[in-house]
This record gives sequence, structure tokens and C-alpha cells, in this order.
Amino acid sequence: MKFFLDTCSINEIKKWSNFNLVDGVTTNPSLLSKEKKETTQQLKEICSIVKGPVSAQVTKTTNEEMIKQALKFIKISKNIIIKLPANEEGFLAAKFLKKKKIKLNITVGFNASQIIPFGKINVDYFSLILGKTEDWGFSNEETIKTTKKILINIKSKTKLLLASIRNEDHLTKSIINGADVLTVPPTTWEKVLNNKYSNLALEAMHSDWKSISEKDKKKYEG
Ligand code: E4P
Repeated sequence: MKFFLDTCSINEIKKWSNFNLVDGVTTNPSLLSKEKKETTQQLKEICSIVKGPVSAQVTKTTNEEMIKQALKFIKISKNIIIKLPANEEGFLAAKFLKKKKIKLNITVGFNASQIIPFGKINVDYFSLILGKTEDWGFSNEETIKTTKKILINIKSKTKLLLASIRNEDHLTKSIINGADVLTVPPTTWEKVLNNKYSNLALEAMHSDWKSISEKDKKKYEG
């Protein structure tokens, strides 16, 4: 199972690489807009420090324009994966680019049915969005299993990528329900590695440790 980092921050990529949590990176226009550098330059820098796939999302809206943008992106680095929208124009662009053997990630999928046309042409990844649905008052948890089952039943080679992983629950539910790949924002890994209850338990132990004599502590701690 692969874990991509959902970010455009060089610092975050460097930090989480130390934790073996950067098998690849997914970018999007919102994430790029948060960085200070010129966007193409930022993408180039990301590709230069990431060994695995880097998803670059098209911003154009017609299939012809998406194809043009995709062909420009693939010149940046050989680890670029083109991120296309899960709509009609995105499908037409996907069909064309797939024939050219360009790697594709279809994004912002919310309903399991959306995977059918893209799964039929075996795009590399289909991004099913989890956390964002909760902003709008519904859960997409059940959709994970259905989407995975559809891929199996239509005998597709497409990998199910779970995105918008905002918390620990999203992370674990995605894995147990059939995700092939997860793209996780740095903020979620912060939560995992700074668990509130683990910290409380450790604080209590450190507080008890204060009653030990300095001489004894020195011997124990070296
Ligand atoms: C997916 O394609 C998006 O890049 C991303 O995962 C969305 O995450 P968010 O809903 O937390 O912004």
C-alpha cells in the first residue's frame, strides 16, 4: 500500500519523507495557491525531491486545453501524473492521453458510479474524496467499499486512491475498506504522531519521574 502526501510544501515533503510517508505527492490548484513561489517552478521543485509519482492537476476546462496543459506538464519530469477532472471533458482528455501512455489520476470523485467510465479505460488512479463530504453534511465512508467492488467487478486495473483524509478515522477506514493508495495531508500525520491521549499518558509518567533522586536519574539516563 502506498501513501502519497497531499501538499505543495517543500518543507512538509522533506519532513514527512523522514517518516517514510512520501511514496508520492498529490498537488492541486488550492495547495499551489498557498505557496509563495511561481506555480510551475514549485511543481518542478516538488518533482526534483520526490522519487515517486507527483500528481499535477490541469486547470483548463475543455478537453483540448487539458491535453495541451498535460503535454506541457509531462515535460517537467518523468514522475508527473496528470490529474484530470471526473467529468465529460476530463474523460475525453483521459482517453486521448491514455493512448499516449501518459499516467492519469482522475480527481474529485464523490459517487462510486463516477469510476465506471474511467475504470473501463484503466486510468492509473481514481481519487475518491472523503473528508470534504463532511463539510457538506454527508459521509462518503460507505462509498469506499462500493467503488472498490465496482473496480473488481468490471475487472479494471485502476487503483482506488482515497483523498481528503482529514483525520485518523478517515485514514483507518480508508485502509480497511479497500483503498489501494491514500493521499494524506501533513496535518493528519501531525494528529497521528501527536496523539492527545499518548501525550497525556507520557506527561503523567514524566511527572512521576520527578520524584526520583538526581543521582538515580543520572545512572538510569546516562
Ligand atoms: C484531491 O484530489 C484533492 O487534491 C485533495 O485530496 C482534497 O483535499 P481537501 O478536501 O482536504 O482539500
